[in-house]
Amino acid sequence: MYNFGLVGLGVMGQNFILNVADNDFTVCGLDLDQQKVSDLIALGGNELKITATTSAEKFVASLDSPRKIMLLVPAGKIVDAAIESLLPFLDEGDIIIDGGNSFFTNTDRREAYLKEKGINFFGAGVSGGAEGARKGPSIMPGGNKEAYQYIKPIFEAAAAKFQGEPCVTYLGPKSAGNYVKMVHNGIEYGLMQLTSEIYHLLKHAGGLSNKELAEVYGEWNKGRLQSFLVEITSEIFQQKDGLGEGELVDKILDKAKQKGTGKWTSQNAMDLGIPVPSIDIAVSMREISALKALRIRADELFDRPSISAIDKKELISQAEAALYFSFIITYAQGLHQLVEASGSYGYELDLSEVSKIWRAGCIIRAGLLDDISKSFQETEGLTNILLSPAFIPKIKETVSAARKTVVLGVENALPLPALSNSLTYFDSFTSSKLPLNLIQAQRDHFGSHTYERNDREGVFHTEWGE
Ligand code: 6PG
Repeated sequence: MYNFGLVGLGVMGQNFILNVADNDFTVCGLDLDQQKVSDLIALGGNELKITATTSAEKFVASLDSPRKIMLLVPAGKIVDAAIESLLPFLDEGDIIIDGGNSFFTNTDRREAYLKEKGINFFGAGVSGGAEGARKGPSIMPGGNKEAYQYIKPIFEAAAAKFQGEPCVTYLGPKSAGNYVKMVHNGIEYGLMQLTSEIYHLLKHAGGLSNKELAEVYGEWNKGRLQSFLVEITSEIFQQKDGLGEGELVDKILDKAKQKGTGKWTSQNAMDLGIPVPSIDIAVSMREISALKALRIRADELFDRPSISAIDKKELISQAEAALYFSFIITYAQGLHQLVEASGSYGYELDLSEVSKIWRAGCIIRAGLLDDISKSFQETEGLTNILLSPAFIPKIKETVSAARKTVVLGVENALPLPALSNSLTYFDSFTSSKLPLNLIQAQRDHFGSHTYERNDREGVFHTEWGE
């Protein structure tokens, strides 16, 4: 009998199976594609820890009880189809885990549907790409707490480790795991947009070559900006183009695609009433990037200021601080969204644990997350890390560099939208007075929407102009 079942033998599935088997669990794979099944059996070698089949019936029969079956298939209808193909052969108490980026309401629907049949359903975000799946991803599971004990040993063995601690924990009921993974991806969008804006500035205002950019991002990765995304950015600048002269990064079309998780984060943040403007703009920038033909036409119609001379060394040091500042602000927004979602959807998330399991394995892993995790641990009821004593000095130290960097971008027509949105968010969040009194007056003027006063309780309406 096999300890773990995995449906979907693409690269992620294959790698996750090899990872689980490395940790001394036996695994059976299921895929409708005979080639993928044969490939996996060949990869498993003669060790008999791994097998695979195209038959759902044989697959289910090969697993020990309660069965622990993970789906690593594309989000959407394929998840439902995979569940239906397994259902006739499952017993009460068996466990299905969706490891894809499913939309959280779909996970809630599936969980309720399977609960009626006595099957425990988990939505477990898996982050770290193909390499993470093979060597240790960050895993974000949500579902039935009692049933988690059965998958815990396998997940803890397969997950990335941060100073020996596995980057996986039970997060909460129903779609808690998928929701946390969705916001992880929203933060991922923000950090990616920020690293690319700073690249744009260093390249065009500072005139840095790819070699210099690789060195700068490489250095940054050794300091307070230490993170997976900064690390791979340095590597990217060094990659030669296999098809021509120079570095590959200069040959890649500046149109970024998206599968939707960043957009969902923004959309749901709006539903919850939590501002995440650094993430919103990262989604918008992917959309603007896709308007390539229109951008080319418009570029010819408008002049740009010529770029002013800049002290390179100062620019680099300012950009480092600005990037650090805006990384903090982006995490602050995403985590605030999780605090709100936790209350609204009954996830009962422990934000310290969430940030802990992001410290290794996942795409947004960064040195900063250890500090974030400690802040949530130390400050009871913390909603936003900008209020945490550990982050106040970090922000105070970097905010003026963020301002100067934004000004530089504005003066030179080099767009830094995620950086300026981060700064604007900070300036608004830290303002006890904002001009929204005027908006309330306007709303009441044209629509009798009423307003509250700052000098007495109650709800007021004025016949304006009388
Ligand atoms: C991860 C990634 C992973 C995937 C993104 C890509 O955590 O390993 O987030 O889930 O690479 O979803 O998202 P886009 O295609 O939307 O950029």
